Amino acid sequence: MIRFIVLTLFKNMFSEFVNTSIINRAIEDKKVDIEVIDIRDFTQDKHNRVDFPPYGGGNGMIISCEPLSLAIDSAISKLSEYKKDIKIIYLSPRGKVLNYNLSKEIASSNSNYILICGHYEGIDERIIEEYSVEEISIGDYVLTGGELASQVLMDSVIRLIPGVLSEGSLDEESHMNNLLEYPQYTKPSEFRGRKVPEVLLSRTP
Ligand code: ADE
Repeated sequence: MIRFIVLTLFKNMFSEFVNTSIINRAIEDKKVDIEVIDIRDFTQDKHNRVDFPPYGGGNGMIISCEPLSLAIDSAISKLSEYKKDIKIIYLSPRGKVLNYNLSKEIASSNSNYILICGHYEGIDERIIEEYSVEEISIGDYVLTGGELASQVLMDSVIRLIPGVLSEGSLDEESHMNNLLEYPQYTKPSEFRGRKVPEVLLSRTP
């Protein structure tokens, strides 16, 4: 089983994700475990602040070292009871772009993962150095935070874990050389005058 611990300031963004469809079933079947931790729970600031303006000026706020390092330490200690490598990923538009092969690599790795979701302008660079954090982007655009990106990463990985999808779904995908599938149709065989290609009709749904 792959374990993901997600560190975020917006835990509620994960409730639908973990309770829906294939992801929920994979969790129930113990193919994957997803724990979501609120970074704010680790602040020692008397006003519960997690972010401060950047040194040197500039826009936005930076998530500071203290709550984030304590949240990471807590996640590491939770995962250290399993005899697996622990990898720490920061979802960031600056990172290596996620693709099918990277998702497969993660799905077949013998590691557990801590996913850091930033918000505002980012996280203090010393966290990335201190914990040898790997940065992954889900595409060349900027999101308001890493939450959706972490869900994209987990979703693309979880469906590749053996037994999560019905047998055969992935075989076809690899035969297609990871490229997009051909057009598909289901009932009815005619919709507003548009017919399903004749050649497919012998295999009725
Ligand atoms: N956070 C903000 N933008 C992002 C992106 N494109 N990929 C991953 N994390 C992000």
